[in-house]
Amino acid sequence: MSDLGGAPKCLRTPTEMHRWRDENPVKLGLVPTMGYLHEGHLSLIRRSCVENVKTVVSIFVNPTQFGIGEDLAVYPRDEERDLALLTEMGVDAVYIPSSDSMYPPDFQTFVSLEGLTRHLEGASRPNHFRGVATVVTKLFSVVHPERSYFGKKDAQQLRVIQRLVTDLNMPVEIIPCDTVRESDGLALSSRNVHLSSEERKVAPLLYKSLQKARSLFDNGERCGNLIRDAVREILSQESLFEIDYVSLTDDQSLIEIEGLIERPGLIMVAVKLGSVRLLDNIELRF
Ligand code: PAJ
Repeated sequence: MSDLGGAPKCLRTPTEMHRWRDENPVKLGLVPTMGYLHEGHLSLIRRSCVENVKTVVSIFVNPTQFGIGEDLAVYPRDEERDLALLTEMGVDAVYIPSSDSMYPPDFQTFVSLEGLTRHLEGASRPNHFRGVATVVTKLFSVVHPERSYFGKKDAQQLRVIQRLVTDLNMPVEIIPCDTVRESDGLALSSRNVHLSSEERKVAPLLYKSLQKARSLFDNGERCGNLIRDAVREILSQESLFEIDYVSLTDDQSLIEIEGLIERPGLIMVAVKLGSVRLLDNIELRF
């Protein structure tokens, strides 16, 4: 809970953030976000508030993780509403830096991973994970959290962050959090506001295709190709969906499973629906 139970402290530069952290040497949870908060974000924040003495939420629409022609300019923003929600949640501080303070004109250091970022989202969005890994490294190095919370909805991003902290020996525990969905199964996402009403109606088919995969798996199907095909078949019934990928991988390495599924898997889908790129995934557990 915040010291006075009021609005969280707003920190707008790395220097202000550093100073606040020095003055608050307690077990700290960080929830990195790009704002336009929804119940998915709030579930991460709630968990951090329970598991740590203090919680910082960062809000920063990170330009380096958007490609040319992507939706940086129209990414939804509403600082006032976000701050009101964070006040209600009782978070202690909000780190909300300007783009200039994060990336001054002479900025030239980036963090990029090999392997893990070459396929799936990394193939469709070159340099996306370089931007994510760089900004998360910068957030960790000014906030110094003991724990940081990430959604399983962005499965590849979560694996990238786990790899990053392991490889660079960062003293942060990464806490994976379950995907929060609308009642019709659509995973919450800030970008969902850009769906037209017609697109919104068909969007839950994405999760339905994953549920089909799970039910095949739970009924004993172990052929990776058959499950992938079943998902693809459902998605291709909807002409508004432009399928980017349907992928069934090892849960940890994200290496595609060819042949039989013999260890925990992850089935991931990405489609374009109108102007919105939708992602979803579910775990296949024995
Ligand atoms: P953003 O899309 O705002 O998401 C912030 C966090 O909320 C991420 O960890 C994401 O996985 C999680 N999240 C989003 N939708 C969710 C849902 N429906 N259920 C549960 N968790 C959900 O992801 C980013 O921002 C950025 O890439 C960031 C990590 C902040 C780096 O810029």
